[in-house]
Amino acid sequence: MTDDDRYEDYLIQEALGDDYPQAGRQRMIMPHPIASVGTGMESLEMPLLAKMSPNAVFMMGDNPRLPRMPAKPHLLDFFRLRFGGITITHLLTSAKRALEQGQDEKTVMAILLHDISNGCFVRADHGYWGAQMIAPYVSDEIAWAVKYHQALRYVADEANGYSYPESYLKFFGHDYVPPNYIRKDAEEARRHRWYMSSRLVTLYDVYFFEKSEPVDPNIFTDIIGRHFKQPEEGLGFDGSAVAHMWRTMIWPNNFL
Ligand SMILES: [Fe+2]
Ligand SMILES: [Fe+2]
Repeated sequence: MTDDDRYEDYLIQEALGDDYPQAGRQRMIMPHPIASVGTGMESLEMPLLAKMSPNAVFMMGDNPRLPRMPAKPHLLDFFRLRFGGITITHLLTSAKRALEQGQDEKTVMAILLHDISNGCFVRADHGYWGAQMIAPYVSDEIAWAVKYHQALRYVADEANGYSYPESYLKFFGHDYVPPNYIRKDAEEARRHRWYMSSRLVTLYDVYFFEKSEPVDPNIFTDIIGRHFKQPEEGLGFDGSAVAHMWRTMIWPNNFL
């Protein structure tokens, strides 16, 4: 593989006006350290920096490959315009099933949000990240349920109808043992008064991507209206302690 082949996905031709002096300029995407460390792609750092010129600058702002987000984004804009297909299908299908089976609105809301971090942000420790991202906008109980679903997914609770997931045997292998912090947090959750809120998230947390019908996100508009305090300025621009996380999903390729 030549260097140019390796760069290809990280270079974007920028559309500039005819009379712009730097017509033909490229925007380069530097892979995020957290997504590239250990993969070989971290070695793009030096070569991309070396490619910098007036005609090759780094990506800042709207990546033309991505749909443009509205100025004041709502929760569902992230579902529609940013989240990957697997996450969208998984969240919408799980939440719809909970809704159809008569679960209360806070449970449906927690299920709709439980893997939000996987959508366009960070996979590792996704329950913890997801809980932080939503904390200013939902009840403490919903954020709690999202945080602890990650640990509870590893722990069977046959009395409540939850077995260790088949999908985890496939994802991680039969010999995988969760680390101590996961076991400790699962035990803490087990003793908590909100245990069942998080356990319900895991009960509806089923992977059935292939056989699921498309779900219209608008069926959740009313529940979101009642359980998610959408900031007037838009997610990312309300000055909250987590606004930067939402901005990172709006402009996920920013160099800095
Ligand atoms: Fe999850
Ligand atoms: Fe999930």
